Amino acid sequence: MHRVTGKVALVTGAASNPGIGSATAERLAQEGAKVFLTDIDLEGAERIATAIRLTDGDATALKHDVTSEADWDRVVTEVLLKHGRIDVLVNNAGIAVLGKMLELGAESERGHQRSATRRASAARRPRLEAHRAFRS
Ligand SMILES: NC(=O)c1ccc[n+]([C@@H]2O[C@H](COP(=O)([O-])OP(=O)(O)OC[C@H]3O[C@@H](n4cnc5c(N)ncnc54)[C@H](O)[C@@H]3O)[C@@H](O)[C@H]2O)c1
Repeated sequence: MHRVTGKVALVTGAASNPGIGSATAERLAQEGAKVFLTDIDLEGAERIATAIRLTDGDATALKHDVTSEADWDRVVTEVLLKHGRIDVLVNNAGIAVLGKMLELGAESERGHQRSATRRASAARRPRLEAHRAFRS
């Protein structure tokens, strides 16, 4: 089955192996997508991208901290320069602070909220950037 042949996909947090991001990237590539694997761990993302290419998939690894606006600009620009669009965004990268509720401080709670807000606003960025790119 090649359900996403030719689609351009960006998967964040794709370095961890095993991990949800890497598994998603591998599956998208098997289904025919051109996949961009991004992560703060570039080496890890490169390892997954190389494995995908070895099975004839189309995969590119990029360094990307999803909490950085500048990184989003650079990554989205790079994908748009290469393919002119982003069809699929898997906004997977996230930070989980685990522990007992009473032992986690207020700062950790604020960190969670900041992370969630950034992820929500980050999810809109590629579409906005892509839209802008098509208008110009
Ligand atoms: N695994 C679970 O059971 C589970 C359950 C609920 C939610 N989640 C969420 O799903 C997502 C993936 O889960 P997982 O188990 O594959 O996680 P994981 O920890 O195995 O992988 C997370 C990946 O995100 C990367 N990352 C961390 N911070 C980043 C940042 N600022 N910018 C870019 N990349 C960053 C890490 O380098 C890593 O490669 C996470 O957001 C996690 O919170 C997972």
